Amino acid sequence: MKILAFESSCDDTAVALVDVAAASGGAHTVVCEVRYSQVREHLDYGGVVPELASRAHLERLTPLYEQLLEKTGLNEALDGVDAIAATVGPGLIGALLMGSSFAKSLALAVNKPFVAVNHLEGHALSPLLSDAALDVPYVLLLASGGHCQILHVEGVGRYTLLGATRDDAAGECLDKTARLLGLQPASGATLAVLAREGDPFALEMPQTNLEGFDFSFSGLKTAVAQLVNSLKMKNALDDIQKANIAAAVERAVAVQLAYKIEQVMEAGMYPKTVVVAGGVAANVTLRELLSTVVTRHGGTLVPAPMAYCTDNAPMIGLAAGLRLQAGLEALDDAVRPRWPLDEI
Ligand code: KG4
Ligand code: ZN
Repeated sequence: MKILAFESSCDDTAVALVDVAAASGGAHTVVCEVRYSQVREHLDYGGVVPELASRAHLERLTPLYEQLLEKTGLNEALDGVDAIAATVGPGLIGALLMGSSFAKSLALAVNKPFVAVNHLEGHALSPLLSDAALDVPYVLLLASGGHCQILHVEGVGRYTLLGATRDDAAGECLDKTARLLGLQPASGATLAVLAREGDPFALEMPQTNLEGFDFSFSGLKTAVAQLVNSLKMKNALDDIQKANIAAAVERAVAVQLAYKIEQVMEAGMYPKTVVVAGGVAANVTLRELLSTVVTRHGGTLVPAPMAYCTDNAPMIGLAAGLRLQAGLEALDDAVRPRWPLDEI
């Protein structure tokens, strides 16, 4: 089943053609993908500016779509494509409107079905794009810039929330630390590069351990802000301190995430296959810690492929195709900023 997919929920404009394999077997294939990261548009503002994001999506959608047509050899009638999918939430309203309106208009013009996709469902199913054998059910750690949750995935469209952050998402905490340290772009990816130079044990960071499977990162965020400010006042925020802070925060975030997964495994009621997805899943320190914990409890860790951790269109096409194949009811196609996965 060939799906043409659009993703525009935040600051990445992405279009892909995905071949979703039938339930009876075979691998899902990303036939072609093109994306544009808006990181430069937002660089001067220390974060994503919704209005600028919408404008950049609008400017990039048509050239990216034309590029995809050229690369795949698809004709303008999109012969061979079974459906057109787009993210309709959660995300920035204006940004979502750009991608989904483009996709809906296209679907109307070429007379193909339009499939509305929940962005988090895309992340949740993204590890199925990996070569590793992966079957439901699994425990999903979804860690991105806006979300941090543990879910029990029993099948496509069947998600039960086990725990979530009570304040900041893991990625948000990394992004804020990067901003405090003056990194550009201020993201977990740039923080990870700096962290490689630092000693994660040189500084002590607070660890939160909430009851159950919930997370909290606000204490860590406040502690880092206070530390950075006091070092700045003393004129002592040198490169070594910066690298140590990056390493210590990265580790503190990874430790909390891995510890909660360990608690889920120790509960003994959930699948032994653990999947990690979302932008923060690209973090190598997190992958290593998770792998140690999961293996120690006799489980298997399946991380989303590196290329499909951060926002991308193939995961949206995959989610759409798997929903169609499972015969699930179509989701409401109205855009929305908030749309928890366990409520779809
Ligand atoms: O999934 P994503 O692209 O967007 C959301 O849906 O939020 O995730 C973005 C988040 C950002 O917070 C970014 O800092 C984080 O993923 N991120 C990373 C890495 N690459 C992206 N965090 C840690 N290490 C990385 N290598
Ligand atoms: Zn995302």
